[in-house]
Amino acid sequence: MRKVYRNARYAIYHADSLVWLKKQRAQSFHAVVTDPPFGMREYSADELRKRRNGQGGVWRLPHAFDGANRQPMPRFTTLTDHDRMEVLAFHLRAAPELFRVLVPGAHVILATQCMVAHLVAQAFAMAGFEVRGQIVRVVKTLRGGDRPKFGHEVYPEVSVIPRACFEPWLLFRKPCEGRVVANLRTETGT
Ligand SMILES: C[S@@+](CC[C@H](N)C(=O)[O-])C[C@H]1O[C@@H](n2cnc3c(N)ncnc32)[C@H](O)[C@@H]1O
Repeated sequence: MRKVYRNARYAIYHADSLVWLKKQRAQSFHAVVTDPPFGMREYSADELRKRRNGQGGVWRLPHAFDGANRQPMPRFTTLTDHDRMEVLAFHLRAAPELFRVLVPGAHVILATQCMVAHLVAQAFAMAGFEVRGQIVRVVKTLRGGDRPKFGHEVYPEVSVIPRACFEPWLLFRKPCEGRVVANLRTETGT
C-alpha cells in the first residue's frame, strides 16, 4: 500500500482496496463513492496484452470518432458464467468490508453496468445493506454487437440486444440505528 498524494482535504492511496479496507477502523467512514471493476477479466495480463495489440479479447476497439481517438471499452457480452461468478465473489468480499467501516445511515454510491448490476446488488443486500434505488447515468454506447454475428446481412431486422442508453449507479444504505434524525445528531453533534 502506498500513499501517492496528500493535501489538507484528501489523500490518495495506491492499494488493493480489499486489503486497505481491512486496516480501517470500524464505523469511521460517512460515505463511499466507487467505480469498482465491472468484470474481473478486463485488467488481467492477457486482456491488457490484447488491448495493447488492438485485437481480440474483452475489448471493443472503436474507430476515431468526431476527431477524437476513443479509448477501448470492455464488452460485457463476452463474460462467461465463470467471469460473472468472479464479479459476484469480488463484491461478496467488498460489501462486508464496506459495511464494517461505514457509520449507521451511511450510503454507498456505486457505478455499475446493466449486465452485472444484479450480482452487485445481491452481494450488498447479503452483507446487510438496504437497497435504496438507482441513479440513472445516461450514456450512448457505440453501436455494435446488436445484430446476429455473421448474420446481420441475412437477418437485417433482427436485434440480439438493445443498445444500452444508461448505466445504473446503485445506491445502498447501512441501516440507521433508530430514526435518521438520531443518526444525524450522533454524527453532527447537533
Ligand atoms: C471501472 S474501473 C474504474 C475506472 C475509473 N473510474 C476511471 O475513470 O479511470 C475499475 C478500476 O478498479 C481497479 N481495481 C480492480 N480491482 C481492484 C482492487 N482490488 N483494489 C483497487 N482497485 C481495483 C481496476 O484496475 C480499474 O482501474
